[in-house]
Amino acid sequence: MKLLVIGSGAREHVIVSALLRDPEVESVVVAPGNAGIAALVHCMPIDVTDAKAIGELATALEVDLVVVGPEVPLMAGAANELITRGIPCFGPTREAALIEGSKAFCKEVMAQAGIATALAHVCTNVAEAGIALDTFGPPYVVKDDGLAAGKGVVVTSDRSEALAHAGNCFAVGGTVVIEEFLDGPEVSIFGISDGTTVIALQPAQDFKRVGDNDEGPNTGGMGAYSPLPWLDESVVAEVTEHVLQPMADEMKRRGTPFVGVLYAGLAMTARGIRVIEFNARFGDPETQVVLSRLVTPLGQFLYAAATGQLKDFLALEWHQGYSVNVVIAAQGYPEKPVLGASVSGLELAQTNPLVAVFHAGTELVGGELVTSGGRVLSVTAQASTLEQAREHAYAGVAQIVIAGSHFRSDIALNACGTDS
Ligand code: AMP
Ligand code: GLY
Repeated sequence: MKLLVIGSGAREHVIVSALLRDPEVESVVVAPGNAGIAALVHCMPIDVTDAKAIGELATALEVDLVVVGPEVPLMAGAANELITRGIPCFGPTREAALIEGSKAFCKEVMAQAGIATALAHVCTNVAEAGIALDTFGPPYVVKDDGLAAGKGVVVTSDRSEALAHAGNCFAVGGTVVIEEFLDGPEVSIFGISDGTTVIALQPAQDFKRVGDNDEGPNTGGMGAYSPLPWLDESVVAEVTEHVLQPMADEMKRRGTPFVGVLYAGLAMTARGIRVIEFNARFGDPETQVVLSRLVTPLGQFLYAAATGQLKDFLALEWHQGYSVNVVIAAQGYPEKPVLGASVSGLELAQTNPLVAVFHAGTELVGGELVTSGGRVLSVTAQASTLEQAREHAYAGVAQIVIAGSHFRSDIALNACGTDS
């Protein structure tokens, strides 16, 4: 099987690493990729917002499958273009990706499908926003309706800050979703969907805030671990039955079947499981910890999903133990990351066979590895206990030198000791 992978993050780096372990995968090309991915496979430049260019590249390379990593090319219609060309695509059409592209649309689909989520109001002006804020009370949750790379959400007990975020969205012509605050630990579960059948992967937890103890602004994600020792094993089946499958069924009923990753961001509240959001792709950094533990050949799995054949797919196989991922972010991330800073120590970190360093915002400039994005590296370790996986991951992080960079020191900390 020949594959083309679209994207340039640590998520794509781990996807490619997993694909290369599949004996049926002959070749992988990545567009545009990054410095870490380029050390594994051939990378080619592409504008990920240009669906036609993605289609043309896939045709020219005569690939059997395209795997689209990020949401931006999906919303730009990459899958639509590939379907027109008769090329299997793992990733939803523009119409189906709208579950991530518009939070208001997602809420409407969830309501229709009977999926439990936070009560919400869609607002188009400051007066409406003020009323919605007072309906729910603090803590306030205000979400930019459109794509915002995980950074469009403000959760605050400060009413004026909440209203100011809404005002900023309206100022650029946007709408906002204001919703009730969901209390309880968060869990990410990825459902691999072929449009009809959904197979859930093992759960992960992401750390969204930039600072230790969940302080500071939201980011794309600062670290993750999987599986979750404190989570009852029945939750995956429950989420498949009450969240993922109803979502796939409703999208199919609407004539816009969802093929790709149904990413459910969930809150384990005292009143039960509630959906915080859906994304239309693999999560980053959760994918680093989930796919690192997947034994099932990923190329064959994603091909089966892209071609409507998941019903006959055998049960997934997983490595024992735990995986922990720590993101190293550039100075100034998430507000204003400093680009062009030198990156070193990766070889040293990876002398430990339990550690893998996935690249996100890196590039080679004159032979030197430098930062080219906010999240720079994703240091992942696997071990038989969560404590050990955590120790190895942080030992890896300690070897890496990037001036001014920062990372969270409490990834998976509270979950340690809950595994037996
Ligand atoms: P989203 O982009 O919708 O995933 O939101 C980003 C993050 O904001 C989530 O992972 C949560 O940590 C937080 N968040 C979003 N919605 C809520 C909510 N209704 N209640 C509490 N926290 C929320
Ligand atoms: N880890 C959060 C996201 O991928 O949106």
